[in-house]
This record gives sequence, C-alpha cells and structure tokens, in this order.
Amino acid sequence: MSTKPFQIDVSPRIQRLPPYLFGRINKMKYEKRVAGVDIIDLGMGNPTDPTPDVVVDKLKEAAIDPRNHRYSVSNGIAGIRKEVAKKYKQKYGVELDPETEVIATIGSKEGFSHLCLAMLGPGDTIVVGDPAFPIHIYAPAMAGANVIRVPLGNDQAFLDRIEKVFVEIYPKPKLLILNYPHNPTSITIEPWFWDKAIEMCRRHGVMIISDFAYGEINFDGYKAPSFLAAAGSKEIGVEFTTMSKSYNMAGWRVGFCCGNKEMIKALATIKGYYDYGHFAPIQIASVIAMRECKETPAIQSKMYQERRDVVCAGLDKLGWEYTKPMASMFVWAKINPAHYKKNEDSIDFCLRMMDDAEVALAPGRAFGEQGEGWVRIALVENEHRLKQAMRNLERALNPRPPKKEKKQTAGAA
Ligand SMILES: Cc1ncc(COP(=O)(O)O)c(C=O)c1O
Repeated sequence: MSTKPFQIDVSPRIQRLPPYLFGRINKMKYEKRVAGVDIIDLGMGNPTDPTPDVVVDKLKEAAIDPRNHRYSVSNGIAGIRKEVAKKYKQKYGVELDPETEVIATIGSKEGFSHLCLAMLGPGDTIVVGDPAFPIHIYAPAMAGANVIRVPLGNDQAFLDRIEKVFVEIYPKPKLLILNYPHNPTSITIEPWFWDKAIEMCRRHGVMIISDFAYGEINFDGYKAPSFLAAAGSKEIGVEFTTMSKSYNMAGWRVGFCCGNKEMIKALATIKGYYDYGHFAPIQIASVIAMRECKETPAIQSKMYQERRDVVCAGLDKLGWEYTKPMASMFVWAKINPAHYKKNEDSIDFCLRMMDDAEVALAPGRAFGEQGEGWVRIALVENEHRLKQAMRNLERALNPRPPKKEKKQTAGAA
C-alpha cells in the first residue's frame, strides 16, 4: 500500500463558503461551560421556553400509534398543509391551495436551503441585505450562486439601492431575499413596502423569497405584514414561516413554504429526492399547536416585549445606541465607542464580554460588514437573568472605582 498521505478533496461548494464567524464565540462558550462558568447566553435566537403541553401530549399519543412509524411524505401530510392554509386565511386574509401552494419543511432553514438549490445554480446571482441571517448568504452560495450584499434598510432608499443592482449587474440578479421582522437588526416594515418591492421585482423579472420567521412576534400593537398578503406576491415569490419561534418549537424542526406554485413544485421535487418528510407524529402535534394554541404567539410576544424593555433599560444605562424593536426576539445595539478597546472588532468585544461579564452576545460582524460595531442581544433568557446580564455588562464596562478604606481611628474596636 502507498505510504503517500491520502488527499480528501471536498467539493467546491464547501470550499467557496465564507468563513463561519461564530466559530471563535461558540468555542469559547463551550470551553467556559465545560469549566463550570454560568454563561448567560444571549448569543443565539434559541427559545428557552417550553412547547405548550397540549402539543407535547399529542406527540406522545401519536408516537405510540404504529401507523405513524412508516415513512411520511416529503411535502408534509395533508392535514398540516390544510392547517397552514387556514391560518394564513384567518390571520392575513390570504387564500392558499394546500395542494399546490403549501409545503411543509424540516424547519424553515432546511426549506430555504433546498429552495435555493432548486432555483439557483452557477452563474446565477441573488441580492440580500447586509447585515443578514447567515443562511441567507450560505444557502445561495452553496447552490453555486453569486451573492450581492446591499446595505440593509426598510425604506424606499433600500429599494432604490436594490434596483440600482438590478440595473447595473449583468447577468441580472434572479432572486431577492427579504426578511422582515429582520434578524439580526429587528427592523420592520409597513405593508406599502411589499407593494413597492413586488412592483419593482416584477418589472425586472426577479423572484422574491420572504423569510417571515418572526412574523408573529410583535410588540406594542404592531402587526408584521405578510408578503403573501400583498397583491401579485404569489406570481413572483414565496414566504417561509416556522413553528420554532411562535410556539417554542425550535427543536421540532417544522417550517413551511407558501406561495408561488412553480417554486413550491421545484422545492417539492428536490425534497422528494432528498427526504421522506417529517416523522408523522411531529406533524400531527404541529397541527394541534396551530389549531389549539392560537393564543401562544401573542403570549410569547408579550413576554419578549417585557424582556425587550429590560434589555433596553440596561442599554440606556450603558449609553448604547439602539432602536426599540417592534418585533422579533432581538435587540440590535451599537457598542458605545467608549467601551471598545484599541484595535478591537465586534468579535473581539464579544469574546471579552464572555470573559469579563460571563454574557454571550452575537457580534454584528458575523452577519456582514455592515454589522461591524454592533451586537445582537437575543431575548431568550428570563427577565431575572436578563437583568443580571445587563448588570454584569455594566460592571465589566464601567467598573466602579474601588471603595476607599475608612481610616482606623485610635481606640476603634
Ligand atoms: C430569520 C430566520 N429565518 C429562519 C430561521 C430558522 O428557523 P427554523 O427553526 O424554522 O429553521 C431563523 C432562526 O433563527 C431565523 O432567524
């Protein structure tokens, strides 16, 4: 046998992925935990509250029925697709055909990634805001497409920046990825934005994917508008939703893609080759969540709003700039320049906060160049822990001068 070292050659798909900037943060978090440090983890948007009991009970009941132990169907059981269509109708007044316009996915991230594979290939170009949720960059890149980043916004100026790219780039971009309420910045839109975006994309022949993962986590009376509620949306795009955030079901991995028939069909084709769908009891329990836990998203929203207020009060004390979010699970805050050390970037800053304050934050740089100087604070711990986290940050960043020792007077005990 040859003694020459064997060369493992991974695909260009892997090689062209941008560096994973959460790596150093995750490594340090892991090492701290192993060393027994109680890190308050505000770094990941991973809900820590439990899934409603009625949903867990349904899962148990369905799991013991042997009829549910077989392969399921890759586009989701009919019951779950019908329930999603019903929910869109009740909540947003949107008509969807559960047969052709709805597909269940193994979390919206899986669905999004496979839709990119279904719609994009080498030579294609997509446009996305900067900063962005990382999979909005990685999935198109893995599908072979070029990714053009445009400084993010929620106004006409943002749409104008996008249109400039549509006009100037050749070959013309094929797909626009939009995400409101936005991760990581929490920015939101009003319904007019969808009308304008659809009109612009239609004119340029560009498809839209709307990521509506935080659509139901709304504060102070705000109601996030669904892309699919806008006229003409189904002609040019689809929208992803998820059970992860609204019902505390992140680990269950249930999401949906709804809208344009051809795009849904393309996703169904790819999924038909790759998977057999979700374990049926998970889908059955998800139907119960949508049917019987209609109040859960509002209850969760109220809780996140209260947590948001705790974090914002802490940021005020630190003198950090932020816009109070109207939706989502995050506060996006600009690090007070006085709190930066020389040559530090947001990743170094977050590593230092993990050391000095025992708080994990997500560095803005990990979401794109435009995120540098910012951090994302996830509202995933309870109010008590959030207050503690903000106190820890204050102590680490504004250390009080040591108390002067009282002089001992002669004769004192
Ligand atoms: C904007 C956005 N889209 C999608 C997802 C993934 O959702 P799912 O759990 O359905 O895969 C997340 C998760 O954090 C997210 O922030």
